[in-house]
Amino acid sequence: MTSRHTVRAHTNIALVKYWGKENDELIIPLTGSISMTLDALYTETQVTFSETFTEDTFYLDDEKQSGKSLDKVIGIIDLIRNQARITTKAEIISYNHVPTAAGLASSASGIAALATATSRAAGLNLSDEALSRLARRGSGSASRSIYGGLVEWQKGEDDKTSFAVQIDPADWGLGMFVIVNNRSKKKMSSREGMKHTVDTSAYIDAWIETTSQDIIDMKAAIKARDFKTMGEITENSAYKMHATTMGAKPPFTYLEPASLEGLSFVRKLREKGLLAYATMDAGPNVKILVQSKDREMIEEALVEEFGHDKIIYSEVGSGIQDIESFEGV
Ligand code: PMV
Repeated sequence: MTSRHTVRAHTNIALVKYWGKENDELIIPLTGSISMTLDALYTETQVTFSETFTEDTFYLDDEKQSGKSLDKVIGIIDLIRNQARITTKAEIISYNHVPTAAGLASSASGIAALATATSRAAGLNLSDEALSRLARRGSGSASRSIYGGLVEWQKGEDDKTSFAVQIDPADWGLGMFVIVNNRSKKKMSSREGMKHTVDTSAYIDAWIETTSQDIIDMKAAIKARDFKTMGEITENSAYKMHATTMGAKPPFTYLEPASLEGLSFVRKLREKGLLAYATMDAGPNVKILVQSKDREMIEEALVEEFGHDKIIYSEVGSGIQDIESFEGV
């Protein structure tokens, strides 16, 4: 018997960051987080279960995977096989429309797509909440990529209560630029980086305390569609997250010279009266939260400063979608 399912999941960028786990194994975070799903960056994944397969195989962008990359995928598939009470082997074919591991959260869309396509191919009809919980087990930020718009990963306290929900479809003109400084693989994974930070950073208590308040304030700002406040909380959350890494022992940072140039450019945009707010994840790239009505002016300035090739723009993306076949490959 063969069964197959194909989906597309969009990546997301946190406005209020997730940075630290309370439970490393179940991936229960220390705080909640809030993200925006991006339309332009996504993963498409096809999962096939067949009695004829003798082992699990995983192809990412046409390259057969082995080692850690394959093991991570099998970990999620095993959770689903257990739930579906099957032992059938699977073939996974995945295409990332995201520069992999350059701090652009390809793991979020990748794992969300994998969890959804696998559970559907296995014949499970899971709710979004159950999909979010499954995706969380592969990568915390993936719990948020099940949904479109603005999404909150509710901290919860155990496997059952820690999942994401959509808080607003955000169809009122938000956008995000990415300045791609570096397409290469990051040096310190988010998993290692946050663990080291939680274990050793002088600033971890302040991070937890202020992030919990940021969640409350961000939700109020979203409800009021108060873009300026949303932007200020976003930028502050990112700077605070990166400060925690500098307070770790030994200290480390994801910032590179080009990141500082990007951050200072965003401040200059604001000095010119444009509402633009920076954020950064576990990599050197700077992302900029904007309103889509300002896209043209901001894009022109960014292209002039950094060059056309380095600028990606995205509108707000939708949640997981079933697709018939791969797009653009
Ligand atoms: O879920 P992970 O392991 O990809 O960690 C994500 C961590 C950040 O991207 C830095 C922040 C976030 O909330 O996405």
